[in-house]
Amino acid sequence: MEIAAATLSPADAYRLMIGIVVPRPIAWVTSLNAAGLVNAAPFSAYTFCGKNPPMVCFNVGRREAAFKDTAANIRASGEFVVNSVTVEAVEPMHETSAEYPPHMSEVEALGLELLPSQAVKPPRIALSPVHLECKLERIVQLGRDRDELIIGEVVYFHVRDDLIKDGKVSTEALNPLARLGGPRYATLGRYITMAFTSGFGEQNQKRAS
Ligand SMILES: Cc1cc2nc3c(=O)[nH]c(=O)nc-3n(C[C@H](O)[C@H](O)[C@H](O)COP(=O)(O)O)c2cc1C
Repeated sequence: MEIAAATLSPADAYRLMIGIVVPRPIAWVTSLNAAGLVNAAPFSAYTFCGKNPPMVCFNVGRREAAFKDTAANIRASGEFVVNSVTVEAVEPMHETSAEYPPHMSEVEALGLELLPSQAVKPPRIALSPVHLECKLERIVQLGRDRDELIIGEVVYFHVRDDLIKDGKVSTEALNPLARLGGPRYATLGRYITMAFTSGFGEQNQKRAS
């Protein structure tokens, strides 16, 4: 199939992209509104995007023309937490993507247990074994629909002790959930560890291990 992108409707382009860019990690983002209500929602247009300082970013689309609650809260407060999503959290995480009105808290409605954060006001979801406490670095508006690419500086990391093996986060212990196209998810399968066969890869090898 060959497709000139300009011939696609935004909805078709979206469906194509979420089928192609897989598997995606999921940022389960907690934020606070002005009344102190805790909002939680998942975002899979998500990655880490900087190391000095550590930064993550995720893309929030608009609901019609309006901001989603997460984007509105972060714009106003400048803070959020990325909670990691393990396989066990699939049901509550998926439920938090439902369109709760701004005056309703997903975490209260679903009875999700919260933990206080260290460096930011939004709390953490206890079910998640990793939390990234973030301060807003900047928001970049993208494209004709003015999606919001939210870039956050990670100011505090929480990693559950049992996930650390040999000083690194063990992927096997983390057991992350990945998002695919449509309402589908996946777990990780086979792991492949690579070494360079030529001497030229020595520096890359050092950086990665
Ligand atoms: C796994 C998953 C990933 C999602 N990823 C995104 C995303 O990257 N960007 C986005 O705008 N919405 C995404 N959504 C939809 C939002 O979670 C949904 O619009 C939610 O209601 C937003 O909540 P809020 O208004 O409380 O911010 C995703 C939903 C699910 C279930």
